[in-house]
Amino acid sequence: MLSATGNTPEIVELSVSSWFYRNRAIAGFENPARSLYVSIRELLENSLDACETINVLPGIRVVLTNKDETTSEDLFSADPQVLNLTVRDNGPGIQKENVPRLLGKMLTGTKFQYKQSRGTFGLGGSLALLYGQVTTQQPIRIKTGLIDSDYYTILQMRLDIEKNTPIIIDESQTPKPISEHGTSISYSLKGDWLRSKKRIISYFDQTSVMVPYSSLRFETPDGEVFAYPRVSVNMPPAPKEMLPHPRGIDVEMLKQMVVETKTRTLLSFLTSSFQQIGKKTATDFLIETQLDAKKNPSNLNLDDFLRMMDAFETFPKFRAPSADSLAPADEELLTAGLSRLNPEFIVARQRDPNVYSGHPFIIEVGIGYGGALSSGLSLLRFANRIPLLYDESSDVSNRIIRNLNLKKYGLKQDDPLVFLVHMCSTKVPYKTVGKEYIADVDVVRKEISLGLMDCLRRLGELVRKKHKATRKMRRENRLTNYYSFIANTLESSSKSSVSLAKLFSSLEVNKNE
Ligand SMILES: Nc1ncnc2c1ncn2[C@@H]1O[C@H](COP(=O)(O)OP(=O)(O)O)[C@@H](O)[C@H]1O
Ligand SMILES: [Mg+2]
Repeated sequence: MLSATGNTPEIVELSVSSWFYRNRAIAGFENPARSLYVSIRELLENSLDACETINVLPGIRVVLTNKDETTSEDLFSADPQVLNLTVRDNGPGIQKENVPRLLGKMLTGTKFQYKQSRGTFGLGGSLALLYGQVTTQQPIRIKTGLIDSDYYTILQMRLDIEKNTPIIIDESQTPKPISEHGTSISYSLKGDWLRSKKRIISYFDQTSVMVPYSSLRFETPDGEVFAYPRVSVNMPPAPKEMLPHPRGIDVEMLKQMVVETKTRTLLSFLTSSFQQIGKKTATDFLIETQLDAKKNPSNLNLDDFLRMMDAFETFPKFRAPSADSLAPADEELLTAGLSRLNPEFIVARQRDPNVYSGHPFIIEVGIGYGGALSSGLSLLRFANRIPLLYDESSDVSNRIIRNLNLKKYGLKQDDPLVFLVHMCSTKVPYKTVGKEYIADVDVVRKEISLGLMDCLRRLGELVRKKHKATRKMRRENRLTNYYSFIANTLESSSKSSVSLAKLFSSLEVNKNE
């Protein structure tokens, strides 16, 4: 860009929010259809995360309408793509003074710890609100109430995109029963409901499978209501926050940890900043890297950093990362979730924890067969309990399923089958920032394949048993029909000299032969 007065290029410094808004397509805000889907997804996921942090069974209501939320007037008829979205949850609420920063500022959040959560970058919800404001020029309305408080705070907010700061334009309070708590976010946005409807509804369907302990309700602009009542009251235990594992960090992270540490020696830095490094492992590690155990971490130079990073990758004595930071669904919950689809058989398996590039992960798989399922294979993919709906053909699970030899298990391609694959990890290997499909990492592929094969073996047994039982029943039915046919024929024949009782007893003998 050239300045107006001369030919010196003008230097422009973009704010974080301005940068993200310009590049919003990388986070999925590509067009009005996909933006609507991503907005609902981001807000719903924030609500689920929020409820799970306080171990409350989520009850979430999502209302999408083309009417004004407060007056119910059809204010947006001039532009049918302007919609109003409200997401209300029973989470912990947000402290009034934190609302603007958490929801009005990019890259600000409470989920930057080393544990599994749906949100990761402090970005999704804030970007969804910013998208809404830029496309409709309307302010955002947030109503939030904390546990044990007797009032809701209601804030109206605008976002200053150039400065990446929120501006509060109105603030009030209203009384609330002490037992209620949670957050409701309401704002307008441009979205293409007709083109995104199918996908948004499957997003709700699939979310309800993965969080069967939640009660979800989605009200559409067409006046339809999709209600997903809770089918289980067992919530998986919340993941624990852990220290990072040495294999999963990069130079920048290491530098940051050195800046933040209060320790004075490398030995204590290693034992207190990482998981799975005790005193003995740390001593051996420092001998191998030829670093002085007594050196103050703040005196590390670039060469020391690089040497440490190399050794983090190759040192053989670190134990595998702990899986305590993960929150898998477990087999019982997966079965409850799949039962929402009403199949005849459900088989679910959870694999043991494994590790890729220093990040712990757990694979869970499930297969539903028959019942209300339609014929042919379908796949439900989840990562950290988020349904993945786009780019299925590129996902590792899809490749595995396409290559399965179903015949080996007595099954066919056109059998009514639904496959479910869930990966949970402190770092899911997404291929893109849009978080839509999982990369083909060797160890991940192996875990998914083994899990599915295990389920298929069990399912094969069940289906074989069922076929056997059906065949037996059919044979018996045929025989019964045959006997009654003979009986009727004989009865109607007055000339018959054989007593019916005698005939039946002889047929019984034949049947048992
Ligand atoms: N419904 C909610 N209830 C409580 N806190 C919330 C809610 N929605 C968002 N937050 C807070 O706002 C932060 C920013 O949200 P977001 O921009 O979506 O980023 P992320 O979810 O990646 O952290 C979250 O980390 C969380 O602390
Ligand atoms: Mg989020």
